[in-house]
Amino acid sequence: VNIGIVIPAAGQGKRMGAGYNKQFLALRDKPILAHTIGLFEESDYVSEIVVVGAEGDIATIEELVSFYDLKKVVKICIGGVLRQDSVCTGVRALSPTIQRIVVHDGARPLLTLPAFHKFLKETETNSAAIMGVPIKDTVKQVDSAGNVLETLPRDYLRAVQTPQIFDRGILEEAHERASVSSYYGTDDASLLEWIGHPVHMVEGMQENIKVTTPEDLWLAERILTMREKER
Ligand code: CTP
Ligand code: MG
Repeated sequence: VNIGIVIPAAGQGKRMGAGYNKQFLALRDKPILAHTIGLFEESDYVSEIVVVGAEGDIATIEELVSFYDLKKVVKICIGGVLRQDSVCTGVRALSPTIQRIVVHDGARPLLTLPAFHKFLKETETNSAAIMGVPIKDTVKQVDSAGNVLETLPRDYLRAVQTPQIFDRGILEEAHERASVSSYYGTDDASLLEWIGHPVHMVEGMQENIKVTTPEDLWLAERILTMREKER
């Protein structure tokens, strides 16, 4: 199959507080976004990549793509206010020949090729599948006053990551219906859940963090350094 990648990278990185899009921050030898795109560039299963960026970032992303010679990037589109809008735009920009879509956050530069390929293999027969990891902390439901309502059974809780993979038809239908009803979910799979389509969950990797705050950047640096030493 022809797999197309959509990389939402149109956020503002407010929690990072760098004053500009966190995905241009350097992680070891290159910007976060160059790590993320580079991974898919290297995968033989990937035929094209669409990157979605904020309007003011498009020129910088173009430069990054050309500097790191990322040949599979076929389009760089302008994102929307919410991540969901950005993904929707990216999905539309893929070639009509692409029937299987992987969505992966620009801010998750630590996914590895073996982990990505394992994910593809494990989800081959699923029309929608996502990666998640067991939660380490106990999770409690609270009310708005801060009173604890209940403790959720941890065995069945997962922290959700990307990549998320979908048959194109069902992803487009979910986005279309969500847009008509102004429904917004926090990840792509939630739109499928909302229309009643089954979503399969496979085990992700703890290292596949989303670089969100300065501590995450520090941790990501450490993980990469560790990997270099192991090689
Ligand atoms: N994203 C996007 N379009 C948006 C919002 C987010 O493409 N309108 C992307 C981000 O660039 C990021 C991913 O979605 O790669 C996950 O979002 P998040 O980690 O929240 O990044 P930001 O929105 O940039 O950060 P913050 O919420 O702290 O501002
Ligand atoms: Mg955000």
